[in-house]
Amino acid sequence: MKISTPDKLAELLQNSVAAIALTGAGISVESGIPSFRGAYGLWTRYDPMEYAHIQAFLSNPAKVWKLLRELEDIISKARPNPAHYALAELEKMGRLRAIITQNVDNLHQEAGSRHVIEFHGNARRFVCLRCGRAFDPETLNFDQLPLYCSCEGLIKPDIIFFGEEIPVAANKAAFELAKACDLMLVIGTSAAVMPANHLPYTAKNHGARIVEINPETTELTRRLTDYYFDESASQVLSEAMALLPGN
Ligand code: APR
Repeated sequence: MKISTPDKLAELLQNSVAAIALTGAGISVESGIPSFRGAYGLWTRYDPMEYAHIQAFLSNPAKVWKLLRELEDIISKARPNPAHYALAELEKMGRLRAIITQNVDNLHQEAGSRHVIEFHGNARRFVCLRCGRAFDPETLNFDQLPLYCSCEGLIKPDIIFFGEEIPVAANKAAFELAKACDLMLVIGTSAAVMPANHLPYTAKNHGARIVEINPETTELTRRLTDYYFDESASQVLSEAMALLPGN
């Protein structure tokens, strides 16, 4: 796979009429949020089947809250980085239709992106598993975990655990965007998790070109990617933005 250059990315963005982005944990690593599967990834310290599966949460919520507390703590301190801002700017310029994110950190929205599909939910929202009631984090007492609703249901962050379905609306919107795009920027994902890792194939099968930005190659690089960038998201996007006319 030939390594591509920022001027090529700028050219692709300039010539596309329906570009979208699919993002993963890698885009937030430069904001201080660890990835899941990298060398220092969360899953090297927490077994995802014991700490991130819905059955694990239902059978031992106090244990799972150990990971959730750490995640909430890290996310509450994190701020968007130049890669998040570049995508928000591309949207403002009318060069990016939408972002489909696997991240639950709300950083795309904080950077100003408007059309964000939260494929795995959002850790800034909380919901009762029994009655579906939504909770503002400010109203919750995180010193008394696990959290229970007045209906005695368990309250959890509004994120998708393993073993849970992708929200119907998010799933539908994401696959429709993938079918309709002419360029998909796949940024900072190992493409290891279904069904998110089907989205690039759906886009490619509908004629889109695939750009991948990731310091490490993935299964996509070997099988699908048209233009591969082996640098960090913020570096590649910032350099391409600087080359885009009107920016
Ligand atoms: N810029 C771009 N990519 C980066 C950077 C960076 N600065 N730093 C790391 N990466 C890449 C890594 O090389 C890796 O391929 O980001 C990828 C992160 O992969 P994962 O940790 O597997 O995260 P992700 O693909 O988002 O995981 C998907 O799995 O654990 C579940 O629900 C969780 O949404 C998550 C899903």
